Amino acid sequence: MMPDPLFAVRDRVVVVTGGGGKLGGQFARALLARGAKVVVFDAADAATVRGRYADQAADAALRCFQVDVTSRDSITAALHRVEDEWGVPSGLINAAAIDAPPDAPPEENGPFETYPAASFDRIMAVNVKGTMLCCQAIGETMAKAGRGSIVNICSTYGLVSPDQSLYDYRRERGETFYKPVTYSASKSAILNLTRYLATYWGRQGVRVNTLTPGGVFANQERDFLEGYAKRTPMGRMAHEDEMNGGVIFLLSDASSYMTGANLVIDGGWTAW
Ligand SMILES: NC(=O)c1ccc[n+]([C@@H]2O[C@H](COP(=O)([O-])OP(=O)(O)OC[C@H]3O[C@@H](n4cnc5c(N)ncnc54)[C@H](O)[C@@H]3O)[C@@H](O)[C@H]2O)c1
Repeated sequence: MMPDPLFAVRDRVVVVTGGGGKLGGQFARALLARGAKVVVFDAADAATVRGRYADQAADAALRCFQVDVTSRDSITAALHRVEDEWGVPSGLINAAAIDAPPDAPPEENGPFETYPAASFDRIMAVNVKGTMLCCQAIGETMAKAGRGSIVNICSTYGLVSPDQSLYDYRRERGETFYKPVTYSASKSAILNLTRYLATYWGRQGVRVNTLTPGGVFANQERDFLEGYAKRTPMGRMAHEDEMNGGVIFLLSDASSYMTGANLVIDGGWTAW
């Protein structure tokens, strides 16, 4: 069967930040499988990240750079190398982000009243400033070239508050756990960063949209999975490849009249 030209990404150069991680890795793989040239920017060591793609046949179409998205110099240095080899990227997916892991020290995952300001700064720096700086550096070159599509990754926790009752089981077993505030605040900032840039570059051929995934299954604890399923109209977490269709849609000409929008793929979590 011929590939559908409407959703074509063949030969497009797409930068995927956080491509060393779970969803970023999925996006990169989905693009490589469709003939795109993929550039991974990740804080992790480039050889290690590349090793995670060892199964991927399209080796020649993959470049991995160790980039700290909180540093404009780090982004620019890698971007110059991409441009020298492949030209100005036509796609950018901002997936690099951090959150306090579920097993972080109690002050990170404790009550809001004692949440550390330093943790707020650290997470905002990657999730918001990092996304802004990548848009700034790469979006500028796209605007000069007169074309481009940027996809900023949000989260359901950026649209609505975490439901703290989902974590009752942890408090019932004696922990002081509350899903912390910064991830939510950072992800909601993505929505208006996207809208701002969509309007700013609207006439220069650069489209900017948000993609909002729901929670992705990663062998979480049984109590968490049951609670999550109960709160989700579709009754389950996402599989890690279930955002790929949205990403291909947003990067391809299938979404050519879409900018400043938010594509929500959450199994209905935010529908009630
Ligand atoms: N996994 C989920 O359930 C889920 C749900 C909703 C939204 N999201 C969003 O999807 C995106 C990807 O999430 P994931 O689950 O794949 O996360 P992940 O932790 O698996 O991957 C994140 C990647 O970002 C990289 N990174 C961290 N700091 C960086 C920095 N300063 N510079 C460059 N790279 C840096 C990490 O090295 C890592 O490879 C994130 O934006 C996340 O908020 C994830």
